[in-house]
Amino acid sequence: MKASVTYTCSNCGAHASQALGRCPVCGEWGTMMEEVQVQEKSKGVRPRGESKVQKLQEVSVTEDQRLDMHSTELNRVLGGGLVPGSLVLLGGEPGIGKSTLALQVLMQMGNAVTLYASGEESVKQIKLRSERIAGQPENLYIVAETSLEKILEHAKTLKPEVVVVDSIQTIGTEAIDATIGSLSQVRECAARILQFAKETNTPFVIVGHITKEGSLAGPKVLEHIVDTVLQFEGDQHYMYRVLRAQKNRFGSTSEIGIFEMQQDGLREVTNPSELLLSSNRDGLSGISIAVAVEGVRPLLIEVQALTSSAAYGTPQRSSTGFDSRRLNMLLAVLEKRIGFKLLMKDVFLNIAGGLKVNDPAIDLAVLVAVLSSSMDIALPTDCCMTGEVGLAGEIRPVNRIDQRIGEAKKLGFSRILIPAGQKHQTVKGIQVIEVARVTDAVRMLFKQ
Ligand code: TYD
Ligand code: MG
Repeated sequence: MKASVTYTCSNCGAHASQALGRCPVCGEWGTMMEEVQVQEKSKGVRPRGESKVQKLQEVSVTEDQRLDMHSTELNRVLGGGLVPGSLVLLGGEPGIGKSTLALQVLMQMGNAVTLYASGEESVKQIKLRSERIAGQPENLYIVAETSLEKILEHAKTLKPEVVVVDSIQTIGTEAIDATIGSLSQVRECAARILQFAKETNTPFVIVGHITKEGSLAGPKVLEHIVDTVLQFEGDQHYMYRVLRAQKNRFGSTSEIGIFEMQQDGLREVTNPSELLLSSNRDGLSGISIAVAVEGVRPLLIEVQALTSSAAYGTPQRSSTGFDSRRLNMLLAVLEKRIGFKLLMKDVFLNIAGGLKVNDPAIDLAVLVAVLSSSMDIALPTDCCMTGEVGLAGEIRPVNRIDQRIGEAKKLGFSRILIPAGQKHQTVKGIQVIEVARVTDAVRMLFKQ
């Protein structure tokens, strides 16, 4: 019998009937992967019991008891703990710390029965890793296994409170004849895990690797299936790691968790701003402090800029942790609205700590840092700022202004620049200065 084969794009999930070098839908090269069609009756989740139509008002909700993960940061991102029977996908680049996070969380769950199934590492390797991490797991079971059926069998006999499968790309089901790591295997395994999780009410955390383009391998395929998608990100050369919920059926996606990778595993960072600010900024030019909001958490971020005369030809513009197109836009504003010529200068921008910041409210700090470096005048150290910069050089309102002011106050700043006209509370101990245009901010900061 001829097995039917289709091709599916691992980037966008589009199907094609023949092998193509380039996906006709998203235009990515080399992403069309062979997929074996499964012709099996048992595929899909079987209906459980009779369905019944009822009035919304009459549905009584007993909030499912959530499982405490013994980690404030993880609980926060999950929306208050792990929901029984839910399927969580933990994604991230290789080497970022997914296995460490997963193992550490299980190790800190006290005497709860938990299972860690790894298709990547041997039992000895897992043991070695666990020796570096703090925690006294009494009932943590580990198994090195690549067969999904066997993993589920172990879960059936053990009846653990949580199961971690590390990683979905290294396990396979015997039910289909496709290579491990292929799209069909990844999808089929995830579907079978989901069915098992719902039937036994056991929550599963499945680890997934991200491709170099920054998406989970077979992203569309897995994102539909799972309840929650967590992304673990950060720069490998720095110690900070941010855990973000990209999708969450049981909570908001605006919470983030911050961790620090240390010798003995991941440490939770409850007051990130304190760590991100260097203590000795006195007299240094090119450094400004921005109050950003990541998710719903205010963070104080150190923005560093360096400008120098371009040695030859085209000047360089380079930025780490901040969108480089946005940097170019800000430099244009600087030139047009303040009359500051940067044409023949190299500009380097860096967000300290290796964080990536998407909040446009750090615009003002970026602009001011560039100016400060260029004029070689240090900014006052007691002042931080928040505000998006528009093309006309106006400073635009930002969200969560009160939280930003509160965070600045908490970290000992005595002045904060905010967009003019934005309603805010008055907080004792910190002077709030409203600025309408970048020229106002510049005048006020560089007046000495
Ligand atoms: P790992 O969890 O293996 O990454 P992933 O599963 O996402 O591929 O973590 C990899 C890095 O973490 C590795 O380079 C070593 C580092 N690490 C520490 O710094 N401290 C520790 O306690 C552990 C266990 C790992
Ligand atoms: Mg790993």
